[in-house]
Amino acid sequence: MSRIAQLRQAADVLEITWADGGRCRLPALWLRDHCRGPECRDPVSGQRLVDIADLPPDVAIAGAELDDAGLVIEFTPDGHRSQFDGDWLYRNAPGDAAPPGDRAAAGKRLWRGGDFAAGPPQVAYADFAAGGAALRDALAAVRDYGFVLLDDVPRRPGQVLDVIRHFGYVRETNYGALFEVRTRVDANNLAYTNRGLGCHLDNPYRDPVPGVQLLHCLESTTEGGESILQDGFLAAQVLRDEDHAHYRVLSETWIGFRFVDAAADLRARAPLIEVDDRGDVVKIRYNNRSIDTLRLPPARLAEFYPAYRHFAEILRRESLQLEFRLAPGQLLLFDNTRVLHARRAYSAAGTRHLQGAYSDLDGLYSTLYRLEAEG
Ligand code: OGA
Ligand code: ZN
Repeated sequence: MSRIAQLRQAADVLEITWADGGRCRLPALWLRDHCRGPECRDPVSGQRLVDIADLPPDVAIAGAELDDAGLVIEFTPDGHRSQFDGDWLYRNAPGDAAPPGDRAAAGKRLWRGGDFAAGPPQVAYADFAAGGAALRDALAAVRDYGFVLLDDVPRRPGQVLDVIRHFGYVRETNYGALFEVRTRVDANNLAYTNRGLGCHLDNPYRDPVPGVQLLHCLESTTEGGESILQDGFLAAQVLRDEDHAHYRVLSETWIGFRFVDAAADLRARAPLIEVDDRGDVVKIRYNNRSIDTLRLPPARLAEFYPAYRHFAEILRRESLQLEFRLAPGQLLLFDNTRVLHARRAYSAAGTRHLQGAYSDLDGLYSTLYRLEAEG
């Protein structure tokens, strides 16, 4: 067993020195809880058969030794024996080296518009649809940059739903399985007019927010209507660097989001900037059209408004934005918890028609992990 160079055992902890010189400390209860033997894990699904309350509260290590198959540990008070694979322990040991969660800003490649001088991440749809490396690269771009542009997607109504089926599941909403983004009378959303839309994330009034959004351009002959993207995680970092108190207010103040029309009344409460237990940004919700009546106490409002204005001003900085014209046949696939989108106003003359749809990040990441494991 080459991974493990040395063991030092106490009743409550096992200290391992790895062959590469690193060390880790594995608490007795952690080891027992992570036993992968057939009494503790279902051999077929790999799922746990025991609950933490099934384990003795005074569990301790009676003995630990290395044999050909791995590390064998005997526990007191019940004599349970567990066998661990050294490579598995090396990869999964608890401690500071655990990577950030896959939604967290710390694991992402943050960007400004100017970073894409050679063009944004772009994949031909025929390659994406064939699966394999091109699909993997496109989904990895969504994870790392928050978006990818697909080219030459057939300009067929409903195609956007087929695109989703290559990596996940359609998230149907009150707008339907897909929504038509074009000018219409009696629009229940400003997106369905020819007005410009400021940088926003869609649907913060849902819980959970749809993590993935797609916009497929079927037709575009108007003046104007250019698309703008920007990295909300970078914008949050800029806010934190410029005024930490503003950042704290936006991450700690929960506000209401709401959408109302003749058929729906959708409500959710959340902060504009959501931060995890490590202090990493994991979600942005920013949509000036969808913030509900602010009902904070006056003292909180007095803190909130300057912070909210500061963030909004950062989101208007052109140096952070990536602007381009979405051409017919192009499709934007993006992380709707991170990348803000906007569009310029467009002329009444001509036609602009996009079809949009939502999906979820967990399904996208699941497909990505399977493709990455295949290599
Ligand atoms: C939307 C939207 C952008 C566009 O429908 O959510 O923001 O380019 N549309 O029309
Ligand atoms: Zn939108």
